[in-house]
Amino acid sequence: MTTANNLEVGYDVPAVPGMNEADIQTPCLIVDLDALERNIITMGNYAKAMGVRHRVHGKMHKSVDIALLQEELGDSCGVCCQKVSEAEVFARGGIKDVLVSNQVRQPEKIDRLARLPKLGARTLCCVDDLDNVAELAAAVKKHGTEVECLVEIDCGAGRCGVAPGQPVVDIAKAIAATPGLKFAGIQAYQGAMQHMENFEVRQEKTTIAIAMVADTIALLKAEGLECDIVGGGGTGSYYFEGNSGVFNELQCGSYAFMDADYQRIHDKEGKRISEFENALFILTSVMSHTKTDKAICDAGLKVQSVDSGLPYIFGRDDVEYIKCSDEHGVIADPAGVLKINEKLKLVPGHCDPTCNVHDYYVGVRNGKVEKLWPVSARGKAF
Ligand SMILES: Cc1ncc(COP(=O)(O)O)c(C=O)c1O
Repeated sequence: MTTANNLEVGYDVPAVPGMNEADIQTPCLIVDLDALERNIITMGNYAKAMGVRHRVHGKMHKSVDIALLQEELGDSCGVCCQKVSEAEVFARGGIKDVLVSNQVRQPEKIDRLARLPKLGARTLCCVDDLDNVAELAAAVKKHGTEVECLVEIDCGAGRCGVAPGQPVVDIAKAIAATPGLKFAGIQAYQGAMQHMENFEVRQEKTTIAIAMVADTIALLKAEGLECDIVGGGGTGSYYFEGNSGVFNELQCGSYAFMDADYQRIHDKEGKRISEFENALFILTSVMSHTKTDKAICDAGLKVQSVDSGLPYIFGRDDVEYIKCSDEHGVIADPAGVLKINEKLKLVPGHCDPTCNVHDYYVGVRNGKVEKLWPVSARGKAF
């Protein structure tokens, strides 16, 4: 079977639309389309109910098709991404509002960022240094374009961003005074606590961040600087920022697919979070079973990231993924129930870096392959 582009299953791609789910070649990424759509709608409804916009984080899936689906079903106002090369993919793919939620410093990359509006996309980036304002200004002047800037606050993540308060005002004033640049607001993403298990700990850390942002907005206002965007929040904290009355734009990514790491965090009742379903799986097959209590599958390190732990096997508590090497996964099978070629769905430990090592998502529904979506910005890390 081939796709419209003449991609042939088995040679070029693991599956093509129309075939049975049972015939997909492994290992590959599969997406449960019903679950994905429900996740997108659920988050869209939360954002609407909280009165905030949702700028979905496209670095998670790196897929133009999924970003467009998030616009259609979840009313997202645009995408965030981390790299200029990702931004180019989204802008070329028809996304009209793209934030590089990161600092862009290399001259070549600044030049590319300044050209992005010519692809028809509102273009934004983060800034945390006055020198960067001058660098961006020279590039937008050269290309006759406009780039909007968010001043990034380090509100606890300990990576990019300036301290809240006056340092933000100083950079915001410089941006606002520069032709071709526009001061668009603040980004304050508390990344360090998103995956902390305890709800109250996440709440406490986000509350501190929200207070820092509120104080900074007041200082900016006193200088006549308005924030069109006050952005931040991820899958582990969106309800705090969304209900704060301070943030007006969420940046969630993982909620659309979910992963094993996010499934370890708790809601306010101390239960595993349940509002989002597993939509992303690594489909794998058993290829060897020479030990009575262990099976070997074809999904090893090269199809997943294990920085946040090993995957778990979806819907099975009789077998467990316990170890991996480059091309092999070892599955504990104490009762020896697994058969050669039996397929298993692995929930990856960490979705973002897992997606980045695949070329395609195979979208499935009701036992059939319905979509074959390229991981459009795969490897776009520059
Ligand atoms: C700046 C920024 N915003 C939002 C997110 C989205 O987070 P999540 O995938 O946890 O929803 C990330 C992820 O690392 C990020 O770096």
